[in-house]
Amino acid sequence: MTMARTALVTGGTRGIGAAIARSLAAAGYRVGVTYQGNDEAAAAFRQETGIATFKWDVGDFEACMVGIQQVTDALGPVEILVNNAGITRDATLHRMTPEQWSAVIQTNLTSAFNMVRVTIEGMRDRAFGRIVQIASINGQKGQVGQANYAAAKAGLLGFTRSVAQENARKGITVNAIAPGYIATDMVSAVPGDVLERIVAQIPVGRLGHAEEIAQAALYLVSDDAAFITGATLAVNGGQYMA
Ligand code: CAA
Repeated sequence: MTMARTALVTGGTRGIGAAIARSLAAAGYRVGVTYQGNDEAAAAFRQETGIATFKWDVGDFEACMVGIQQVTDALGPVEILVNNAGITRDATLHRMTPEQWSAVIQTNLTSAFNMVRVTIEGMRDRAFGRIVQIASINGQKGQVGQANYAAAKAGLLGFTRSVAQENARKGITVNAIAPGYIATDMVSAVPGDVLERIVAQIPVGRLGHAEEIAQAALYLVSDDAAFITGATLAVNGGQYMA
């Protein structure tokens, strides 16, 4: 890397996104992160890491256009995009509301369209790009209580493969990481007895660490990973072997 590349991580002030942002910064990239609502966590993250934070709703296309322009003004054009922002609204389908369905599709799947749509033309012009989608084991195998989340995460995989094919000749790779159950706020929200049963199904015998996802992301965005595109990398402790 001659000059530090600019990387943007959505949902990057907490959990997996924060671990990815820290790893990228430690590796010398110019890093920005987005967040949606938790100002306190964002301020703490910014203070501790010195990483620039930008607040907008990645589910909103117009907001992405404005926000990515701000990132570009501050850090330069986005060369590496990690679509990590995601939410859960778990409920069995027979109880799921249209609002729970739409919120998850908007934030977890439409956000990928929004962010990639706004950054891809610049990547194509510059003939370089790295896009990583944070998908999920539950988009691969399904999960009770997550019809919305699993649909969005499975959708990301089809999106990834399509955009990978379209941009392969332009020096742009598009890959997905499918984390298993990682020790974050999101997984802490799973009822204790349910989580205990899930951990019992993980061959490695524990939850994953956010840093273990970050290491996978770091590799996929590197210049060395130019021949890997359209791939889904499972980082799940052996819980699901596709
Ligand atoms: N297989 C089949 N059916 C099951 C089941 C299983 N393993 N577990 C529960 N059920 C069924 C029950 O039989 C029951 O069915 P009926 O309503 O027909 O009797 C129903 O599911 C229970 O549903 P309820 O709505 O009554 O239960 P609830 O409201 O207490 O909660 C739940 C259900 C929301 C699914 C809850 O169990 C839950 O939150 N589970 C965790 C889901 C999960 O793993 N989420 C992952 C979050 S972390 C994340 O998303 C990160 C990532 O990428 C991995």
